[in-house]
Amino acid sequence: MKNVFVIILALFLFVSCDTTNKKVINSNFQIPNATLTKELLPQALKIRDFLSEDIVIAHRGSTYWTPEETEPAYRWARNIGADYLELDLQMTKDSILVAMHDDDMLRTSNVKDVFPNIEKPTTNNFTLKELRSLDFGSWFNVENPDRARKSFEGLKILTFYDVVMIAEGYRIKRENGEPIKEIIKGNWTGKYIHEKDPLDNNNRPGIYAETKTEHIVRLLAKELTKYKWLITDNPKSIKTYKEKVNIANTDARFIFQSFYKSSVTEFERLAPNVPKCLLLWRPDMKGNIKSELINNINFCVDNNVEIMGTSISGAPNNYDELTADWMVGLIHDSGMIVHPYTFDTNIDYNNYANKVDGVFTNRADLGLNFFNRMKINDSEKILNELGY
Ligand code: G3P
Repeated sequence: MKNVFVIILALFLFVSCDTTNKKVINSNFQIPNATLTKELLPQALKIRDFLSEDIVIAHRGSTYWTPEETEPAYRWARNIGADYLELDLQMTKDSILVAMHDDDMLRTSNVKDVFPNIEKPTTNNFTLKELRSLDFGSWFNVENPDRARKSFEGLKILTFYDVVMIAEGYRIKRENGEPIKEIIKGNWTGKYIHEKDPLDNNNRPGIYAETKTEHIVRLLAKELTKYKWLITDNPKSIKTYKEKVNIANTDARFIFQSFYKSSVTEFERLAPNVPKCLLLWRPDMKGNIKSELINNINFCVDNNVEIMGTSISGAPNNYDELTADWMVGLIHDSGMIVHPYTFDTNIDYNNYANKVDGVFTNRADLGLNFFNRMKINDSEKILNELGY
């Protein structure tokens, strides 16, 4: 009888702990005038548990080692062993999703030289074919002479599909260094042909994509279905390898992220049960920080959002602090997990990485080293091996 009682008590304790995040910390954090947050519903907890702990998310591939959101950035991130390839999505004039962070292309391309008459050159002013005529690599060499490489000159903008293919172990096929074009009925579509990457080392990362505008969320859901990356709609099986990154073949293969609540709810409507992250930006949180945070957590709970993307303070970004112990504690108490941005230095890792669940980082190499998953001196070696 005593044994039965012990088993029942153990079961009760196990069930009571169910909403608690895997990384239970800060149980004694101080919240001024604490107000309770809501807790994720069982279905959202199930989606949350698709995600691994301590994930390393390669922010724009890498903004440190390579021109951001380009082929070397994502091939490097895949080969180094990042768990996710992170990208920002914008749409071309002919409705194709491309990887581009800024609202315009002035900072990261030579658009001003090629199309001098367009004052604010956004991606939706151009067809994919036109965008492919631009150089998205040379600016990096000018800005970062210590990390410049001749091979970065003339890099092309990537489509979302190009990034999906890199995650699956492919690369853009080339002849004499030039990408091979997809020709349909005698015309170039603006797309390139892919081939198995002979320098792929069998990591299969997931994709963590941010939409920059709400109207492209529907297109994203459509493209995900087409590429069979939407886990709820006949997803493809992707071959994975022992002791290599295998996230591309899990239910967390794709994570949606946005700063916009309307985009998050739209994605949840179109693609329910896919992991989602609400990004927070302190300047948009006008009121008292504690109540703003609680409101955001409660929004997430109400809309089955499992992840909060908070900013960390410190150089070089100097973002506002949204990852203080009490903030992480509040988010964890709701059952949500925390993926802060953006980790650039060992100081960032030492200050924050152990209390959160994953990191957006421009230095995936530092992150993998911090979590004892690789040796730091592989960073440049991998770029060299990939032929850059
Ligand atoms: O994507 C996570 C975080 O980096 C958001 O910032 O500026 O890269 O969109 P941003």
